[in-house]
Amino acid sequence: MRTVTTLYDLRAVRAEFPALGQEVHGRRLAYLDSAATTQRPRAVIDAVARMMGEDNANVHRGVHALSQRATDAYDQARSTVARFVNAARDEEVVFAKGCTEAVNLVAHSWGRANLRPGEAVLLSAMEHHANIVPWQMVAEATGAQVEPIPVTDEPTLDLDWLEIRLRQGGVKMVGVKHVCNATGTVNPVGEMARLAHQHGALILVDGAQALAHEPVDVQALGADFYAMSAHKVYGPMGAGALYGRHDLLKAMPPWQGGGDMIRTVSFEGSTFGGLPNKFEPGTPNVPGVVGFAAALDWLVATGLQAVREHEEGLRRQATQRLEAVHGLRIVGTAPGKAGVLSFVMEQAHPHDVGTILDLHGVAVRTGHHCCMPLMDRLGVPATTRASLAAYSGEDDIDQLVEGLEHVARVFA
Ligand SMILES: Cc1ncc(COP(=O)(O)O)c(C=O)c1O
Repeated sequence: MRTVTTLYDLRAVRAEFPALGQEVHGRRLAYLDSAATTQRPRAVIDAVARMMGEDNANVHRGVHALSQRATDAYDQARSTVARFVNAARDEEVVFAKGCTEAVNLVAHSWGRANLRPGEAVLLSAMEHHANIVPWQMVAEATGAQVEPIPVTDEPTLDLDWLEIRLRQGGVKMVGVKHVCNATGTVNPVGEMARLAHQHGALILVDGAQALAHEPVDVQALGADFYAMSAHKVYGPMGAGALYGRHDLLKAMPPWQGGGDMIRTVSFEGSTFGGLPNKFEPGTPNVPGVVGFAAALDWLVATGLQAVREHEEGLRRQATQRLEAVHGLRIVGTAPGKAGVLSFVMEQAHPHDVGTILDLHGVAVRTGHHCCMPLMDRLGVPATTRASLAAYSGEDDIDQLVEGLEHVARVFA
């Protein structure tokens, strides 16, 4: 019996994703690895193909018709992203390769210009390596220090610790992921932004896992910076964006140099362009960015709230069914968590679990999910992770459970 209520036509939505129609090892593909990367709907594939096939030209440099079409599409994509996250102005959106590059931009530009010896960057202990390593590099260069915000077993963040630490002073930046890719925890970023600002610190939110699943309003959240990856929200790989508050971005120096980001260049020195150009040197990933905007349009048309409710219903049902599998323990039980189901199984290493699931046509992720500090804290070397998206269904969970029962038998 099917029990998840879905306010859109799941079969029709699935049919829009060509990759989902295939078989793997003779079984229908049950794609449960959307936290690693989502599949792309036809609307995105077509937008990228159109950009490459018909409107292909370099942006911002040509006077000819194709270049102007490409430039318009690129600029419109910026407006689409700005609208999606409710930025106050388009120039607050800087295109990047993805979330990793967006965080690096903040760390290397803002961090190098603003951090002094002894000052602190507080990062949640559940951060992805993308929001740890760039800060460690900048801390090394500036003499600042990186400190982890402790997490509970669930894991949720210890906000009392955060408030006490902020009160002690010297904290310039708080970094946190909106949604945890390893456990699904949704972090209270609005509350954290309020605390950070009260004590004179800024907040950088890693939105990689949130954009496709949570309503994101950067102004309501109070985010100073918000990092995004297109490929986690039904868009192409190699595209993404950084939202940054206008006054902050304006004051920040460029971190990479090249064409398109300058006002003047001479061998005596160069002057830089305004926002957002000063942070976008060289030829940008125009097809990727156009595909990113098409993906956001697709999600809005499908209904962000409806997708969210569908994923929530499926997550609840899947949780109950996984808990019934012999020897399986779910890792990540925070209240209100997103559609990420991480688990460990008695005796079976996650790598073996993933390999057997693959034979059942089930795609999951295994490993530390680029969250080694969190894995250490939770006392597991790795987990198996099934993650949901708009196109996930109860048949995917049936196949997952069938595969896990096979694992339980093999390793009994
Ligand atoms: C929470 C989180 N942050 C950052 C990243 C890095 O994103 P990208 O590889 O698209 O730059 C990921 C990707 O898995 C993620 O899940």
